Amino acid sequence: MERFYTFFFVAGLGCFALAFTLSMVFPWMSLDGYHGMDYQTMEDLAQTPSAEFVQLSEEYPEAFEASFGAVNSESYAEALQLGRDVYVGQACWHCHSQYVRVVSNEAQRFGPASTAQEFQNALNQPHLWGTRRVGPDLGREKGKRPNDWHIAHLIRPKNVVPLSVMPSYDYYFEEDGTPEKEGFALVTYLQWLGTTYEEEGNTP
Ligand code: HEC
Repeated sequence: MERFYTFFFVAGLGCFALAFTLSMVFPWMSLDGYHGMDYQTMEDLAQTPSAEFVQLSEEYPEAFEASFGAVNSESYAEALQLGRDVYVGQACWHCHSQYVRVVSNEAQRFGPASTAQEFQNALNQPHLWGTRRVGPDLGREKGKRPNDWHIAHLIRPKNVVPLSVMPSYDYYFEEDGTPEKEGFALVTYLQWLGTTYEEEGNTP
């Protein structure tokens, strides 16, 4: 009987070691340094303000200046962070995923499948993969639509997609459609989604 105790003790330790390797060591190896996946801070991400951010400043000079001042990496970082905060606060993630799966020909709809690398940055942690898709995946939203489209859509989705069930976010915009600070931020953030994938030069 004694040797069975020893057997189970050793087997128990073995299972622990296996689980530790599979769920801790392997994931760590696949992210940190081992595959050259450097973590990008907000400073790295916001170095060059996007063309869409610049365009918002040109189209709504006064409102933009009142909200963010001039276009530079600091104001761009502020807009991105606020955009993400509003996205989280409004639970946009409840209806939208930010994760292109490798199955069901998703790449044809949303672009190349998501990679671990593109979530290694300040704006994607904690990630917003979401669990449901009432609306489309937004992980590759950058450049799919012009700023004006996003503004019209956020004010009243049915303006541009007649059968849409997405709620209206008109309180982030003035009567004439000029964005308030949160409106600018949301559009800036949407126009950023997917950037980290391209910047790293990954191809599927
Ligand atoms: C109740 C579910 C729901 C919520 C909450 C929701 N959406 Fe949507 N969204 C949809 C649906 C459905 C569509 C597809 C129809 C349409 O384009 O309006 C959509 C479409 C979109 C699109 C267009 C994507 C494209 O390129 O076609 C964007 C961008 C978007 N949503 C952003 C947001 C943001 C930002 C929020 C939060 C402020 C949000 N959504 C909250 C359901 C939702």
